[in-house]
This record gives sequence, C-alpha cells and structure tokens, in this order.
Amino acid sequence: MIVARVLVVVLAILMVAGCGDGGDEPEAEAPATAETTPGSEPASEPEFEPVVYKDDFAASIKPIIEESCSGCHLPGGPGASHVSMATAGEVRDAAPLIAAQVSAAAMPPWPAGGDSPPFLGDRRLREDQIRAIVDWSRTGTINVPAKTPIAPGQPVAALAEVDIEITPAEGYAGSPGEVDHYRCQMYDPGVTERTWLQGFEFVPERTEVVHHAIAYRMDASARAQAEKAEAAAPGAGWPCFGSSGLDPTAETFALGWAPGQSPTLFPEGSGLPIAAGDFFVVQVHYHYDDDRPEDRSSLKLDLAEQPETGALDDIVVTEFVAPAEIPCGEGESGPLCDRDAALAAARKKYGPEGVQANETNIFCGTEPEDYALVDGVASSRCGLPARAEGDIVSVFGHEHELGKSFRMVLNEGSADEKVLLDIPRWDFDWQLNYVPVEKIQVKPSDRITIECSWDRGLRDPALEPAYVLWADGSDDEMCFATVVTRERSG
Ligand code: HEC
Repeated sequence: MIVARVLVVVLAILMVAGCGDGGDEPEAEAPATAETTPGSEPASEPEFEPVVYKDDFAASIKPIIEESCSGCHLPGGPGASHVSMATAGEVRDAAPLIAAQVSAAAMPPWPAGGDSPPFLGDRRLREDQIRAIVDWSRTGTINVPAKTPIAPGQPVAALAEVDIEITPAEGYAGSPGEVDHYRCQMYDPGVTERTWLQGFEFVPERTEVVHHAIAYRMDASARAQAEKAEAAAPGAGWPCFGSSGLDPTAETFALGWAPGQSPTLFPEGSGLPIAAGDFFVVQVHYHYDDDRPEDRSSLKLDLAEQPETGALDDIVVTEFVAPAEIPCGEGESGPLCDRDAALAAARKKYGPEGVQANETNIFCGTEPEDYALVDGVASSRCGLPARAEGDIVSVFGHEHELGKSFRMVLNEGSADEKVLLDIPRWDFDWQLNYVPVEKIQVKPSDRITIECSWDRGLRDPALEPAYVLWADGSDDEMCFATVVTRERSG
C-alpha cells in the first residue's frame, strides 16, 4: 500500500498535468496529515496540503485551474471553444459551469475510477479541491485583476522523435446535416522490413470537427481490400463504424484517441511490431455543426532504436469481448424488437462481418435468451483466457453510446483477483488508454473477465424501437476491451 502511494506521488510529480489521487479511492480518503511512524523513512510520504477556500482565489483556486484544466482550456486547447480559461476573469465568468462539471466529476475528463488500480497521469481532482471550487463558486469572486493570465498546465508527454508522419493526400469533409459521422482512412507508413514503434500519436487537424479517433494496425493482407473500399466510396476514405470495416482477422486495435490525450509511448526496450506492408486505418468520429471544414488529420510514428543484438520486446494487443444484447424496453414495440429481425437488418446494412452478435455469444458460451432488461438496464459479462504473457502496459474498454459502466477483472473470484479497469460511469466521448502504475503480470492461463452495462433510456427516442445487438453501427452496441502487454523477446 505504501509502495503504491509513494509511486503515485512520484508519478504525480513526473507526469502530465492534473495528477491526483482521485476522490473515490480509499487511499485518498486518508487524512492529509498522516502520522509519521517514528524512525521509519520520515520523508518517504510527502502529503498534499488540503485546499480550503477562504476568499483567496489566487491562492487556492487558480493553482487548481492551472494544474488540472488550463492544459485543455487555454485558447487552442480542445476544451477552449466550450469554455475559455485564459484569464482569471474568464474563469470567474464560468464559475457556475465549472462547479457543476467538477462536482459531477465530469471534468477533468477521466472516467476510470471505482475499484481501478492507480493509473499514470490520473487527472481526477481530490475531494478537497472539488469542495474548494464549489465553495468559491457560491460567490465566484476573484482577488486579482480580471485580466490576470492563467498559466498553461504542464506539457503532456511527447514523442521522443517523429520518424514518419502520415497525412492523407486528400482531406475529408462530411455531408451536410451529419452530426455523428464516422470515416476510415488508410495511413500507410511504407515500411519495407519488420520494425517496431516506440510510440505514436494521432494529431487532429480540424479540432472543431474531430471528436475522437480509433487507429487499427492492419496486416498487409488487407491492403487490397482497403484500396477497394477507398476506391468504392466517393471522397477520401470510406464509411465505417466500430472497426475498420475490413477483414477483422487482419485488424489489431492499436489506439483510442480523445481530445487532450497524450501520445502513446511504449516502455523502453519494447515496441509495437510492424511488418513489411502493414498499414494503419484511422477511424475518425466527426461532429459537424454548420461548418464542414476539410480535415487532414495526421499520424506521427516514432520508430524504436533497434538493438544491435536480439530484438525488442513485442508490444502485444489482446482483445476481449462480451455479448451485447439490449432488448426493447417496456412500452417499446415494433418489428425490429424481434432479435432475428434486428439481426437480419444489421447484416443487410453492414454485411456479415459488421455484425458479431452471434459470434460473441458463441465465444462466451451464452445464448441471447440469457439476457434481459432489468429496470431499463442490460448487462453482460464474459471471462476468457488471458492468452497473453508479460507485464501489462495499458488497458482499454469500449462500448458505444448506450454504455453505462465497464469493468475488467483479472482472475475474478480467485485469491489473486485484481481489478484492471473500472469505469463506473461510461463516457463515450472519453475512451482513454489507462496505464497502470503497478507492475501487473499476466500469463496465458489467467482469466480476464469483462463486464458491460447499458442504459436503454439513453437510446435516441427518435429512432425506430429495435433490439440492440453487437454490430458496427453507432446505434448498435459493443462490449470490447484490449489488454496491451509487453512480451519478453526470445
Ligand atoms: C483533457 C482535456 C480537458 C481537461 C484536462 C479539462 N477539460 Fe473541460 N472540457 C474539455 C473538452 C474537450 C470539453 C468539451 C465538452 C466535451 O467534449 O466533453 C470541455 C468542457 C468543459 C466545460 C463545459 C461543459 C459544458 O457542458 O459546456 C467546463 C465547464 C469544463 N470543461 C471545465 C473544466 C475544468 C474546471 C477542468 C479542470 C478541473 C477541465 N475542464 C479540464 C477538455 C478538458
């Protein structure tokens, strides 16, 4: 326990802006002024001084904004078009909004919590910080001139170098009236021999329309298929949702990106392997309001230094699924509330590869009839062998817009049970890769259980009532996870 706390503190110093112990972890509840046990490592646990608001915006509130918010809310940042926090006056003007967001734990964005292990770069505010902001917001006064600038947050981690930058030749602009638009494009690094990525970064060009993105590493075998999809659809790329829309056996989920996300950096001595001819497909989720600027977002790759002898450890991405079965609720009826009809409609729309509803049940040994809606909430769980061997580098969970919660547990029910990721309140807009602070090892015979729940009430009432199942569409659902491990070479 002490080791974990010290690590968290050390990492809070080393890492990105906005680190905190997190409000709902038991450790954070401990009194701030812990008694130091006489004779035992006196300086080992630097504690934070709880923030108390006493009409002193500059001393108590401004530092929180600078540490945890300004990284995204200064002009040019991903949150600035919603709320700009360039000056003390702007922060004052947004006081009620800020208090509402922080007390709902909606900002800073960091959906992981609950029983999750400590993660690097945890952005959550502590309870005392939230309380101070709420107390301040009651008057919202500032004891500094309104034009006092808010300092930038600490810069996030960056790629050590950019060896390859891929920018599509043709920009993409959606069609008018599309609020949620998903588009896949091919990003070809032109690699001619096996190499490893030390890290990579998705760089959105038109941040006003790029909502979030998912990158897949594709085996060279899917190249002709990608070129065909590209040629068949007018404009750059092709329409897709939930996956690349190409051969799923050639696809490896590589990266989820949301605004403010730092680049993906793999631990030294390891890298994501790329074979000759492999390429990336990036699926961008666009939000178009009135404006439809052409977007040419890029992918930056940092190739790993290859050791003179031997190879790097491979970064391995292992995928996990659970079924998604969300029947119509009480008071909903229509032909598509019948599962078979909904399945047939989805297959017609996305092709058989875009609908994994039955396959996920087969993997997990369940039947659609095993699932029911309880008080408007559907849930599903599935335990599968871990398959991977090595140290966990990061974990990631994925559902669509009806998602309510997500959980992933290693060896559930055994003496060495370990929660790998707990997202008590799913947020489709903030699908982050989480890097555990502790060393967590897995072996192929371990079991990883993922669990999803969905709130039927979140479904757009304008849509035709339908049984929601695992498929590619934005109105369909998924329960999907990846565990990224580092596999010792040789
Ligand atoms: C990682 C980037 C990031 C950080 C850090 C961040 N925000 Fe945000 N914020 C956003 C984005 C992006 C939006 C736009 C809404 C969305 O996408 O959720 C937003 C929206 C908001 C809004 C407007 C919400 C609305 O309903 O219009 C408020 C208020 C806000 N943030 C406050 C904060 C505060 C206070 C902090 C720090 C304690 C903070 N944010 C930290 C990215 C961030």
